[in-house]
Amino acid sequence: MTTATIIDGKEASARLKDCVAKAVADLKAKHGLVPGLATVLVGEDPASQVYVASKQKTAHALGMNSIQHNLPAATSEADLLNLLRSLNPDPAINGILVQLPVPKHIDTIKVITTTAVAKDVDGLHPESAGRLMSGRAALVSCTPMGCLMLIKDVLADLTGLHAVVVGRSNLVGKPVAHLLLNENCTVTIAHSRTRDLAAICRTADILVAAVGRKEMIRGDWIKPGATVIDVGINRVPAAGGKNKLYGDVNFAEASAVAGAITPVPGGVGLMTVACLMVNTLKACVTQNGITDVALPMRLPPRV
Ligand code: GUN
Repeated sequence: MTTATIIDGKEASARLKDCVAKAVADLKAKHGLVPGLATVLVGEDPASQVYVASKQKTAHALGMNSIQHNLPAATSEADLLNLLRSLNPDPAINGILVQLPVPKHIDTIKVITTTAVAKDVDGLHPESAGRLMSGRAALVSCTPMGCLMLIKDVLADLTGLHAVVVGRSNLVGKPVAHLLLNENCTVTIAHSRTRDLAAICRTADILVAAVGRKEMIRGDWIKPGATVIDVGINRVPAAGGKNKLYGDVNFAEASAVAGAITPVPGGVGLMTVACLMVNTLKACVTQNGITDVALPMRLPPRV
């Protein structure tokens, strides 16, 4: 039986996008500027194509400019890096996002470090990660930012709460842990090799699952009343050639114990795209030295 509040990522992301659209209109009215996003997709991975199309569509819907570069899977590393070097100084482009993963013959680190830090709307550059770690965050990775916004929408004050992050990726686990630390949580980073993971999860007031294993976190791992954020996107082939998506948390079990929980799909994933729009707007405002346009730092209250 579901007793938890289901955190509706669609509703929350719509609230955030509405805020971004208003700020974009304000920026245009006051300064004649339109934020520009460049997305780069190398190859034809169907899931990546869907993600990139959604980023493009959302940018346009919010009044931003958006240009997509579709490169063949055989594109050389040098050609991709040269494209990035041409986008870095382009004043019409404020944010650059290379959809990951890139084909195996391309070094992901080189891609990330060739992107200008000021335009790193993915927050993956080591300097962006270092700034977050040292409390001087500029552009923060989109999924972690979305997780924190959802958590702060549910919990008024995170001070002193125990947050357990399951997963230690550069994309989610590490940045979300630092964001929670900045909110005065006591943070434990656990992972697939952690001993007695279930017992550690059971102590979490906030549990962020970003480990990439289908329904690994069971109902009896959850502290009653906890806030559970499921970042997992585990695809399992289903009838009709389609994939069914599963989270890292067993939703049926966990929703009977948690205080609030995100579903998969319909939870964090939708916030990621909305937060990319926040970052693109922020990048534009920062690059142009603008101080009179309000940036959405958190989800606006429900009306
Ligand atoms: N692939 C899966 N998630 C992401 C993301 O957040 N950013 C990029 N660039 N690629 C991804």
